[in-house]
Amino acid sequence: MAKQTTAFSRKHLIGLSDYTRDEILHILETARSFREVLERPIKRVPILTGITVINLFFEASTRTRISFELAQKRLSADTINFTANTSSVKKGETLRDTAQNIEAMKVDMVVVRHSSPGVPLFLSRVLKSNIINAGDGAHEHPTQALLDMYSLLERIPDLKGIRICIVGDIGHSRVALSNIFGLTCLGADVAVCGPPTLIPRHIEQLGIRVFYKLDEALAFADVLNVLRIQLERQGVGLFPSLREYRDQFGITRERLENFPKDWIIMHPGPINRGVEIDSDVADGNFSIILNQVTNGVAVRMAVLYLLSGREREQTQ
Ligand code: CP
Repeated sequence: MAKQTTAFSRKHLIGLSDYTRDEILHILETARSFREVLERPIKRVPILTGITVINLFFEASTRTRISFELAQKRLSADTINFTANTSSVKKGETLRDTAQNIEAMKVDMVVVRHSSPGVPLFLSRVLKSNIINAGDGAHEHPTQALLDMYSLLERIPDLKGIRICIVGDIGHSRVALSNIFGLTCLGADVAVCGPPTLIPRHIEQLGIRVFYKLDEALAFADVLNVLRIQLERQGVGLFPSLREYRDQFGITRERLENFPKDWIIMHPGPINRGVEIDSDVADGNFSIILNQVTNGVAVRMAVLYLLSGREREQTQ
């Protein structure tokens, strides 16, 4: 990764669709120094002292929420968690009122996850705070894609020409879209694979390949990013059964052995073991799934630091 010389000038991270290669590399390079902080006995630096961050989660999360909270604590920010189920949203308060009331308590940065695409963009228009998208419906999940790219770059120094296939429920996946934007921006050769009912029409217009047969995808790719079937976002049955999905698209050891390579196997979590991926692959030698989780904290530290403007203040 090239060393960045100019300060980061973005206020929000809504998605990767309009982020440039330099901006993405700037985040990943910054994350590398924060990754080193995570190995220290005292995993804390006073970089965001005085900054207050709210984690505004309207949808369930394990990894993203804990990772953001840890990132904030590691940077010495003040951090608050909001859960919709135990808030006045239950009494009918609107999203805008909720967000503006919280901001009135002198919050500086908002991390938001919501089931509706567009909520982070909306908040960026009605609040003064920095907004970070922690996943909005089936739209984008930019910090997941950034941590995925960071984890790949730990194994492969340059993603240009790297053949990566995202396998699974592409149509309902915010992880897929952010990965497509980020990886193509860094020059990777990206494909998606899944049943036709789970792949949006015309997706190849994003500059990627499409495979409807897993064996063709396995012949093409060196890296697999395996996605969960998002049953909670599917209104109707888009394939006959989970057993049939596993037979056609499940990543098993036997299937990978038909294509002997130094595979890199990724998954954003949560995993449905025995459906999209078998345990001996998810926990096997090719898997970097838990590295992705560890790196997520460093990447989110980088995003919080750069959006906060503290880097700009230090370089002036
Ligand atoms: N990868 C991811 O977004 O996981 P969570 O839903 O647990 O945050």
